Amino acid sequence: MLSIEKYQNEFVDFLEEYSTVKEPQTLYNPIQYILSLGGKRLRPVLTLMTADIFNNDYKKALNAALSIEVFHNFSLVHDDIMDDAPLRRGQKTVHEKWDVNTGILSGDAMLIMAYQLFENYEANTFQALAKLFSKTALEVCEGQQYDVDFETRGNVTVAEYLKMIEYKTAVLVGAAMKMGAIVANASTEDQNNIYEFGKNLGIAFQLQDDYLDAFGNPETFGKQVGGDIIENKKTYLYIKALEFSNENDKAQLQKLFSNSGASENKVEVVKQLFKVSGSAEATKKAIEDYTKKAFLVLESLNISDDKKTLLKNFGNSLMNRNV
Ligand code: IPE
Ligand code: IPE
Ligand code: MG
Ligand code: MG
Ligand code: MG
Repeated sequence: MLSIEKYQNEFVDFLEEYSTVKEPQTLYNPIQYILSLGGKRLRPVLTLMTADIFNNDYKKALNAALSIEVFHNFSLVHDDIMDDAPLRRGQKTVHEKWDVNTGILSGDAMLIMAYQLFENYEANTFQALAKLFSKTALEVCEGQQYDVDFETRGNVTVAEYLKMIEYKTAVLVGAAMKMGAIVANASTEDQNNIYEFGKNLGIAFQLQDDYLDAFGNPETFGKQVGGDIIENKKTYLYIKALEFSNENDKAQLQKLFSNSGASENKVEVVKQLFKVSGSAEATKKAIEDYTKKAFLVLESLNISDDKKTLLKNFGNSLMNRNV
């Protein structure tokens, strides 16, 4: 097993080899741009780590890891159009730097490139990877659609929110790990358990993403702080704030979330309501609960305690992140 940093470096070397700008440059430059902006490389690291955990050579999982990262970056390019987001990883989003049409087509090309990478595997592995990928990619679309539909709905429940984030985010984290297990020829039982681990970690991860969207430090966060509030996103923070607030605060929150765009100091007022209602604390608690839920799944995996500890440390480090 390598350190997280080592997996990251190995992955970035592989990515750099893969990224060449072809003609037309107006299609490929934005792809190169978004892929080289960095990011945490969480998903590909999980793919490589998982392959190693099941006693395989992580190098065999590099193409699957790259596929997952290219798909993730595709989803971000389109997500930033849908969320009207100006910033990604501290730089301009693709549709801001170029335009919306560029973001659409470069994104489409990335989705195809992600599939294409499976061609590097022999038939059985190819089929298993492609099958998982198609299912996952469709679920991500479903999650993204729920996310947008909820912007204009006032009565979104916690259960609906959890289903939405499971689909838009968590299934990809689960799939990233399962792909590592597939490449390593792990048993079906282990493949399914590692998927469940990743999925629960992914739910915690999106809850944390929502928390940081409101309470992250604008100097280091890399995205527009308050973006979810401006877009009326029905996050756990919002749903719990409605549940915990008195009638006055509840009405104020609902009014602020019924208008499009940012009215003057909307972000500051809403953040205050998230805090005083106790929803900010409840969200932190939920992040912990889902991380612990993920750790419980580890018990049933047929791997050494050392490897379980490694996965736990990784899960805990995600909970303490600030980007
Ligand atoms: C952002 O994912 C989108 C979500 C699903 C929350 P990351 O936070 O993993 O983004 P990068 O790749 O590190 O920038
Ligand atoms: C993103 O959710 C999920 C996908 C890209 C599929 P967000 O909209 O919360 O992600 P960020 O905050 O823009 O990274
Ligand atoms: Mg977004
Ligand atoms: Mg979004
Ligand atoms: Mg977000």
